[in-house]
Amino acid sequence: MDCPVFHTDYRLERPALETHRLLNADREAARFAWNDSTDEGFWVLNRFDDVKEALERDEDFTNDQVSAFHRSAPMGLLPENLNQPEHSELRRILNPFFAPKLVKRIADLARERAAALVEEVAPAKSTDIATGFGMTYPTELFLALLGLPVEDAGKFLPWVEGQFIGFFNSDPESQRIAAETRHSIDEYFTAAIAERAGDPRDPKTDLVTRLVTAEYQGAPIPHGTILTILNTIMAAGLDTTRSAIGYTFLHMARHPEDRERLLAEPELWPKAVEEIIRLYTLIIQDGREAARDLDFHGLQIRKGDLVWLGLAAANQDPRKFEHPERFDPDRPNLNQHLGFGAGYHRCLGMHLARAELGIAMSEWHRRIPHYRIADGAELRERGSQLRLQHLPIVWD
Ligand code: HEM
Repeated sequence: MDCPVFHTDYRLERPALETHRLLNADREAARFAWNDSTDEGFWVLNRFDDVKEALERDEDFTNDQVSAFHRSAPMGLLPENLNQPEHSELRRILNPFFAPKLVKRIADLARERAAALVEEVAPAKSTDIATGFGMTYPTELFLALLGLPVEDAGKFLPWVEGQFIGFFNSDPESQRIAAETRHSIDEYFTAAIAERAGDPRDPKTDLVTRLVTAEYQGAPIPHGTILTILNTIMAAGLDTTRSAIGYTFLHMARHPEDRERLLAEPELWPKAVEEIIRLYTLIIQDGREAARDLDFHGLQIRKGDLVWLGLAAANQDPRKFEHPERFDPDRPNLNQHLGFGAGYHRCLGMHLARAELGIAMSEWHRRIPHYRIADGAELRERGSQLRLQHLPIVWD
């Protein structure tokens, strides 16, 4: 099959929403393409049915690599880098902890923290959502959920930045920062693990205890593996929630008619959150590695090739979603988006993310219903995994 070659480098920072515009154009330009913007290059699948099929064909498209942008060291992310059956065994240990029932446990705390943080910023009549509320709120909840002291949030904020510098940049300086960050995070979690080993808590409500006491492959989980799991959950959970909060505010600031509807019908927030995750998909791609030479609907993929499964482009595919560019919390197939992935690796924290986001939005809008983007604000989004760098808003 003759394939076009795309050159767009999706690791670059761009004006807000430009990335999705480019991805939508790619999806319509060709069913399959090669992208040569990285050293190695990768195959591009951007249409909904293709992306979903590849995500579900995990024996052909493996998680040995999980980003099309670059290769990373084996087993650097857990459970992400595992394939079946090891992956399911580890998910069986983790899933109950992140199940909807347990997430409800933190609802009261989420409401209380969201309310307190909004009350704190309200008198100033302006804030940067991306670096303020959007960052502090998920970090505090993450620590509370893990049974760690909420006062440690200040340490975690720079650590998350350090982790991401390492994920997206392969130059020596970025890798040095990432390694130093990993060292600090490991020290922190090693202390928590030692404490739980000596004085275990309830494994149903304390994740570190759960990991320390669980059996995986017939033995206790090795210390290094527990550290990687905790690092992964931290990397996967904090920046994503912060990003989703940013895009939700951006949408509501730019679309007062949608905001008015949600002010009148706050019970609609869970559906609105789902639609934001689709429309502003922040994990734009899941990377996979081809397990063998494959013929994917005529596209010849070689064993070892990197493949881009375009979650963001798929989520705005008009073949799947009618008027995909519209925010429509009433759409009949609202829950069928790929914003949390699909198949075995579907997001471990999605129930938590949904609950956190819905609560944050209803608490904020109850207190500060009317706001606008600050005059002259330059809105830009990070590449690779989208996030608004700043979102200054003001209110009267
Ligand atoms: C709006 C917020 C979030 C979005 C959009 C999101 C999105 C995703 C996506 C697309 C995947 C699939 C990756 C793949 O297939 O390679 C994933 C996996 C994962 N997510 Fe989330 N996520 C969010 C929040 C969270 C939170 C809050 C946590 C935990 C505290 C979390 C933990 C994880 C983990 C551990 C995985 C790997 C699962 C596996 O490989 O089995 N995520 N997420």
